[in-house]
Amino acid sequence: MPTLTVRDQDDVNVKGRVSRGLNICDALKSLGQTPAMNCGGNAKCATCKVLVLEGDKALGEITEKESKRLKSIELEKRYRLGCQAIILDDVVISQSQHTL
Ligand code: FES
Repeated sequence: MPTLTVRDQDDVNVKGRVSRGLNICDALKSLGQTPAMNCGGNAKCATCKVLVLEGDKALGEITEKESKRLKSIELEKRYRLGCQAIILDDVVISQSQHTL
């Protein structure tokens, strides 16, 4: 089982083992978290956007929905939609809202 770590402002806020194949939002829910998901996971709002700090290759391919919703600069800077990004291996993310 992969480990999902949420690190905001240099502190580890959440860390736990999650099932391989879950998207980040569902993995967060499995750890007792309540991720922001204004569109219910339909890739329409981007409130679930996360920054991948470590392990971007541990996530599934960027989906067509993600590439439509996120700006190209966000994709370059390793942002993903939590409702779309599938966890395949250990990954560290930040949920803080960052300004590009
Ligand atoms: S929950 Fe709306 S884009 Fe992910």
